[in-house]
Amino acid sequence: MSLSPHQVRGGLWRLTADADLRSRNTFAVAARAPWLVEVRDSGALGEVLALPELQGGAPLVLGGGSNLLLAGNPETAVLALDTHRIDIIEDDGAMAIIRVDAGVEWHALVLWTLRQGLMGLENLALIPGTAGAAPIQNIGAYGTEVGEFVRAVETWDRTAGAMTRLDRESCAFAYRDSLFKRMPDRYIVTAVEFALPRARALKLDYAGIPEELQAMNIASPTFRDVAEAVIRIRSRKLPNPAVIGNAGSFFKNPIVPAALADELQQRHPGLPLFRGDATDNRKISAAWMIENCGWKGYREGDAGVAASHALVLVNHGAATGQELLALARRIARSVQDRFGVAIEPEPKIIGANWQ
Ligand code: EPU
Repeated sequence: MSLSPHQVRGGLWRLTADADLRSRNTFAVAARAPWLVEVRDSGALGEVLALPELQGGAPLVLGGGSNLLLAGNPETAVLALDTHRIDIIEDDGAMAIIRVDAGVEWHALVLWTLRQGLMGLENLALIPGTAGAAPIQNIGAYGTEVGEFVRAVETWDRTAGAMTRLDRESCAFAYRDSLFKRMPDRYIVTAVEFALPRARALKLDYAGIPEELQAMNIASPTFRDVAEAVIRIRSRKLPNPAVIGNAGSFFKNPIVPAALADELQQRHPGLPLFRGDATDNRKISAAWMIENCGWKGYREGDAGVAASHALVLVNHGAATGQELLALARRIARSVQDRFGVAIEPEPKIIGANWQ
């Protein structure tokens, strides 16, 4: 069968052969997909997934491409949801339920909630990516994880061949993890429902926030002030992917038994520890360990580590996904050798296995 490079059927989706993915991943590495299908109405997913071009295995679903390392070309088709609605579906004055299409840009959604007087997402300002990707890795920052505010996630379930709606409990949210991350070939997130209060206690205790609010001369902050503080901190510390290719934190903070965390801290005074996901474990700072191994600001060719944050790998221009992966492996090995702790990547790696 011969197909023209661009096919548009019914205005609901568009299929492109041999698609360039450089502008679709925030690392800005070069890669090509055999097919790219952009879907403008998630109701067309059944039809799209039945296309002959999409029969070579589960498609790679791309949101903003901000949590992805293309270490090779994807072997299957790439699917992008080009859907942009935000609707208030319930509002009793104290709490609103909003339904957000997967393709909505995350930070644009946060700004929209701030304008609507809806709280909860203020600590998550300026995170790159889309609303649909947010529950997949349970995005988190400054003491908040998005899972806290998710009421339900709408998906296309490839096993059932139908749309399904999963409530929050079914999503199994954990640190940078969810059911959707564990079963990437089964679920395509199409929309997310958030339950957002109009009043709640602000989350101000994360290191950096009180200092920033003080520098802004704000004694009694509103949720909009908190968002502004987060935006200022992030803009200072995290390189802007529009300027220099990166995927945010490349490594997760490892969660280790509390006894091991204490022992490590005794041997390495200054190693920051955070609450884990249970009373008997702790999250330890991967950034601190990486910086301690001397990697902060390191550069080899165009692959490097941000000078402003040791967790962020950067592409200074023409680094390949393989070069970035090779650097990440060297970093992880040095942390393992010095601290005896394994650090794991946060982004999804395409075209290679981590180990
Ligand atoms: N630190 C260093 N060197 C550095 C950076 C940080 O030693 O270069 C130490 C400092 O002691 C600092 C501590 O690490 O106090 C924590 O740093 P930061 O507040 O930046 O947080 P993080 O643990 O490095 C996590 C998230 C970020 C999120 C911030 C703020 C992960 C993998 N990363 O980073 O999320 O913005 O907390 O809440 O959990 C992302 O996931 O892409 C991301 C940017």
